[in-house]
Amino acid sequence: MLLIEKLVKSYPGQHGQDAMLALRDISFKVEEGSFFTLLGPSGCGKTTTLQCIAGLEHPDTGLIQMGGKTMFSSRENLIVPANRRELGMVFQSYAVWPHMTVFENVAFPLVYGIKRAPTQEMRTRVLKALEMVELGQFADRPAPLLSGGQQQRVALARALVHAPRLLLLDEPLSNLDAKLRDTMRTEIRNLVKSLGITTIFVTHDQVEAVSMSDQILLMRAGKIVQQGSPRDIYLSPNSVFTADFMGRSNLITGVLDRSGETARAHTALGPISGVAGPALKPGASVVVVVRPQGIRIASTSESSGLNCFKARVQNMNFLGDVVEMQVDIQGSKLTLMLNPYTAISVGQELTLEFPPERCVIVPSEVPSSCGPLK
Ligand SMILES: Nc1ncnc2c1ncn2[C@@H]1O[C@H](COP(=O)(O)OP(=O)(O)O)[C@@H](O)[C@H]1O
Ligand SMILES: [Mg+2]
Repeated sequence: MLLIEKLVKSYPGQHGQDAMLALRDISFKVEEGSFFTLLGPSGCGKTTTLQCIAGLEHPDTGLIQMGGKTMFSSRENLIVPANRRELGMVFQSYAVWPHMTVFENVAFPLVYGIKRAPTQEMRTRVLKALEMVELGQFADRPAPLLSGGQQQRVALARALVHAPRLLLLDEPLSNLDAKLRDTMRTEIRNLVKSLGITTIFVTHDQVEAVSMSDQILLMRAGKIVQQGSPRDIYLSPNSVFTADFMGRSNLITGVLDRSGETARAHTALGPISGVAGPALKPGASVVVVVRPQGIRIASTSESSGLNCFKARVQNMNFLGDVVEMQVDIQGSKLTLMLNPYTAISVGQELTLEFPPERCVIVPSEVPSSCGPLK
């Protein structure tokens, strides 16, 4: 549905400074009907990517195709203007017009856009879009009299009213309070899925990304770090950056050894068997990533098995949903998350097992592709 190839985008430097490279080589594909998320820390280039797709910014070089049609090509010197790209867009600031009613706000793209519709048809389409976001009964209300969540829904209805082929959402939930954000997550996903609209969603919140997306593209400093399903990105990070960005993990440094059947890292705890990508060579400095939920408490009979380590409990923190446990293994501090029924006390000695498939071995250095911007 959407093809992005080798996008490079710089912004002119201000006050005599060098130009700022916001996108350094971005390529990805979005399947028809999928919910695709651009995720990454502030300033990594998510909004710039979205604006390039929308046609509100133009890349220096690269290619953008939608449904097989070229929207931007630096090689062919071709730019399709934003209003001819058939997409809907919702921004972080709702951009709802304060001097208009809810109806007028949603009708705006039909009145002033390229797809002008006859009055009766326009009315039907606006009311249908308002029904979709459950604001049917608010059509005649002045827009400023709505709550933040309702205004965000008006923005969503306005983006959907001309039945776009692609919906672009730039941090649409970040101005809402936590509880409303949770509800809107599910609502937005259900709505676009039921309409079958391909959606590109931008967020810096990994929980939002994991709970809403079919695919996640993790970005850093204008580059792609990793792409995959939420499960892939969370459970099989390709770097310390991904592991760290996606949630808590134990990071154990070591040196890679491939002499046995499985890859191993020699660490301060002893050898740890795990999963290592083929690009990692023996002798490389590595980090073993183990999620706090990934470590098992082994029975005493397993105490000498593969990836089993003796540990002493240093701290137990009861949090309700989970118990956070800190342990010491030969001077290294690790964290485990256990279910709240676990009865273990501080000072106790345990054998812990790190199942090898849960130990992801990644390079210790920051890949050169992810370095800071010059
Ligand atoms: N209009 C602009 N002029 C100059 N620099 C910009 C402009 N817009 C964004 N940038 C810079 O480009 C980089 C990427 O910004 P942006 O795409 O907004 O990131 P994100 O949405 O991931 O927070 C940032 O370093 C930002 O400061
Ligand atoms: Mg942004």
